[in-house]
Amino acid sequence: MATERSYSQEDLQLFEDIKNGKTFDKGDEMPALYKKSLLNLLWMQGDSEYSGAMGYMPWIEKAPTLAEKVLVAQIVKDEMRHASVIYKLLRDMGEETENYVSNSDLSYKLEEDEVNIGFQRIKNDNRVNIFYYNIKYWTDFILFNFLMDRAAGHQLEDTLKSSYLPWKKGIEGIYKEEVMHLAHGDKWVKILGKDPETKAFLQERLNLWWPRVMNVFGNSKGSTNELYVKLGLKARTNAVVRDVFVKEIEVICEQVGLTIPEYDESKQPIKQ
Ligand SMILES: [Fe+2]
Ligand SMILES: [Fe+2]
Repeated sequence: MATERSYSQEDLQLFEDIKNGKTFDKGDEMPALYKKSLLNLLWMQGDSEYSGAMGYMPWIEKAPTLAEKVLVAQIVKDEMRHASVIYKLLRDMGEETENYVSNSDLSYKLEEDEVNIGFQRIKNDNRVNIFYYNIKYWTDFILFNFLMDRAAGHQLEDTLKSSYLPWKKGIEGIYKEEVMHLAHGDKWVKILGKDPETKAFLQERLNLWWPRVMNVFGNSKGSTNELYVKLGLKARTNAVVRDVFVKEIEVICEQVGLTIPEYDESKQPIKQ
């Protein structure tokens, strides 16, 4: 059950206007509720792109072949570019990003391997919390492309219809690059799935990463997501996007012969 929120008459009018096609552009005066929600989402994306680039970076050196090192370097560059596009949108809204990034913990990674932090935050930043986990093996790097770049791709698809025009414009290139990253994951899941030894390890690591990626779609008890939909900052709730994501994963896992682990949202550690 979603928690009920109460909205003012102005908020309800804003939802109605947005439903009828109202948009905002750079420099436009924004209602406080809209601005706060937009800032939350942009900070979450900017910090996730940046910490994502930092998490992938060691894999330029550790990738198995020269061709793969080039591909990983390309992915790292893409993620850092995504971060810079989003931080620019934040600066255009009056936020400070340069000192923030220089003084942040965005390179921080958990040392523990087999751990599940559920919905908890570890540091004082805004990243989606899967980016706190360490990418320990090449198989993890592949699963990150396969699972998280796909989850991000589905979430960003909604931004292609965003009511905030500069974000909508910025996301077009970002979205295409995320689709390339997830295709890299799909290609390698099939390669690793062919050899019984690498397949067994792929299954073992999928079991570890699965609840982590499912948690990215949030906790269905919150009502923030419904608000984002009302504001035209998302087109679908996380629960709907999660179902589409899971269906796609099911098809590939079936082809490769991998089992998707059980996931129980109510058993995930919650926010402190
Ligand atoms: Fe990205
Ligand atoms: Fe990506």
